[in-house]
Amino acid sequence: MAQRESWATRTGFILAAVGSAVGLGNIWRFPYQVGEQGGAAFLFIYLLLIVMIGFPVILAEFVVGRNTERNPVGALKRIGSGAWTKIGWVFVTAGFVILSYYSVIAGWTVRYVLIGLQGGYTADAAPEQFGAVASGLDAVGLHALFMLGVIVIVALGIERGIELSVKVMVPAIIVISLGLAAYVFTLEGAADAYAYYLSPELSTIMSEWTTILPAAAAQAFFTLSLGMGVMMTYASYLGEDRNLASDAGIIAVLDTFIAFTAGLIAFPILFAAGIDPGASGPSLIFVSLAAAFAEIPFGGLLGAIFFGTVAIAALSSAISIMEVVVSYLIDEWDIDRIPATATLGVAIFLFGTPAALDLVFIDLYDGFANSILLMLGGLLLSIFVGWIVPDLALEEIEKGIKDIGSLGVAWLWFVRIPVVVALIGLVALNAWNYYGFLTGSFADWLNTTL
Ligand code: TRP
Repeated sequence: MAQRESWATRTGFILAAVGSAVGLGNIWRFPYQVGEQGGAAFLFIYLLLIVMIGFPVILAEFVVGRNTERNPVGALKRIGSGAWTKIGWVFVTAGFVILSYYSVIAGWTVRYVLIGLQGGYTADAAPEQFGAVASGLDAVGLHALFMLGVIVIVALGIERGIELSVKVMVPAIIVISLGLAAYVFTLEGAADAYAYYLSPELSTIMSEWTTILPAAAAQAFFTLSLGMGVMMTYASYLGEDRNLASDAGIIAVLDTFIAFTAGLIAFPILFAAGIDPGASGPSLIFVSLAAAFAEIPFGGLLGAIFFGTVAIAALSSAISIMEVVVSYLIDEWDIDRIPATATLGVAIFLFGTPAALDLVFIDLYDGFANSILLMLGGLLLSIFVGWIVPDLALEEIEKGIKDIGSLGVAWLWFVRIPVVVALIGLVALNAWNYYGFLTGSFADWLNTTL
């Protein structure tokens, strides 16, 4: 087996993990979830779940990765036995499917950069414009271009590819986001936007928590790249004992900060243009925000910068998903990195092509991989770490932390009960919703198309 690579620096590892976490989840998904779920009430519950579920699960992935120094499939084969050795498969499958449509959406963001540079956002025909961008041959072409970028970076390896690229991308995302948030502060209507975004109404939380809670938990999971072994794979390249808890804390804080900033950017722009942030669902940034860019001063340039930032964030996340599957091919099949990355990239491109031709495939893939496989992967891993190998987990987390005291045990109990209970509920609920989709709108689509 080839010599296993490792990160050149601690900063490199942290930036790679932040790059993975900060992505479409933060800048595309987060603002529309806030809009759909009633503004600040959602933000509030989401923050709670990042701490209660997100942070413990990052650590669970870290300990398994660092302890085994293997890809997720190999890691579970090494320390698990029986059926537990199969969890890695849930991860690798989820990664393959998620990247296939993630890349399609990333392609749209590239297209919206070009539209902005040409001054082409439109207030009247924004939905039509989005329809033309979202599906069709252009979408397939940009999906291909984006996958090519992912292939090149991952093929270059951990140190020269991923680490080097995130050292440029992550600081750029942070600086540009802050700049945009500061600029939109000057727009008319900004004060109303902040009030909408930042002051939670207790009554909304009380009456809507049954829908807000699962949406916020799914968001917390997706935004921290949990449930498919990304954090596990990245920690497997650590090669030395560092304080995993402080690394996980930095990653969770930076990721949350960027999502929060995305809201500070999006809502003032929408309010300035008089657009209801709750009305557009998943197309919020592509329809409502793009329409708003047509109305505000310097909107074309501003929009190009905004969508450019989203594209960079998507790239720094996509490479982490790719690395999970590539590390599996390298470790378990003994394939060299470059051919492994190239072949896999082409396969993922082909699998994602239907999603670039018809939006229904995005729902089909997303509902299965993101809403079910990720939660299932996170659930199985949490049971495994909390109940099957707790001694190994505790021993691993204590390395690199001097005075952990009883915090290690507290962490273990978090993983054992609240996290497991929450994830069981989510898997069941999301499976039920997905069943509704398959027998409802997807069945309708099949009937009208075939
Ligand atoms: N966290 C990224 C985002 O917010 C997406 C992502 C990257 C991801 N790797 C992942 C999601 C692994 C789930 C699992 O856009």
